[in-house]
Amino acid sequence: MKSTDVKIRRAGPTEFAKVADMHYPVWRRSWAGMIEDYLLDVIGTPKLWAEVKYPEAVNRPGWGMWIAEARNKILGMSIYGPDFSTANTTRLEALYTADEAKSLRIGVRLLNKAVRSNPSSDVILWCAEKNEKARQFYEKHDFQLDGRTHIWKPLPGISVPHVGYRHKAAGQA
Ligand SMILES: CC(C)(COP(=O)(O)OP(=O)(O)OC[C@H]1O[C@@H](n2cnc3c(N)ncnc32)[C@H](O)[C@@H]1OP(=O)(O)O)[C@@H](O)C(=O)NCCC(=O)NCCS
Repeated sequence: MKSTDVKIRRAGPTEFAKVADMHYPVWRRSWAGMIEDYLLDVIGTPKLWAEVKYPEAVNRPGWGMWIAEARNKILGMSIYGPDFSTANTTRLEALYTADEAKSLRIGVRLLNKAVRSNPSSDVILWCAEKNEKARQFYEKHDFQLDGRTHIWKPLPGISVPHVGYRHKAAGQA
């Protein structure tokens, strides 16, 4: 497959189950060494995401899900929209690409779409402190640690430290 075969477009609600089928296994692997499999079974399922979590996310004003697709196959997804607690800030809530699509620049295309969605906005995101691959990817693409920290507690007794990243809007120091 070539990167020119891949198109980025907004996903509609009827596609959420197909998106979750791609997103869910990549999400599970991104927690390797941080959260055990039996806990991941409880934290999320593709059905919960497609029927509850995605609709909740994209039904917020200005929010949307974007997918990368080639030959009718979903190869990447992102969810982003305005951060309601901070003016002029876009929040990237999810960015995942299928394993078979790595190095096709799908991740960077979806990331750039979020960055360009509102050129006068900073883009912020949370990343697990131990997710080295994602951190290197964001740092390579001009995201910087912004000093925010957050402890995600998906289940009682489970604490997963996260760090905040920020991409400054063009023209800002
Ligand atoms: C992070 C992720 C979205 C990156 O997407 P990708 O499709 O693998 O990356 P791309 O093919 O778009 O890579 C584009 C560029 O980033 C670079 N890159 C990708 N992963 C990298 C890494 N771990 N470290 C440094 N650079 C990296 C590529 O070399 C390429 O460089 P170039 O711009 O010079 O050509 C993807 O690997 C992923 O889904 N990871 C698991 C899920 C996850 O952790 N998501 C983030 C949650 S916060």
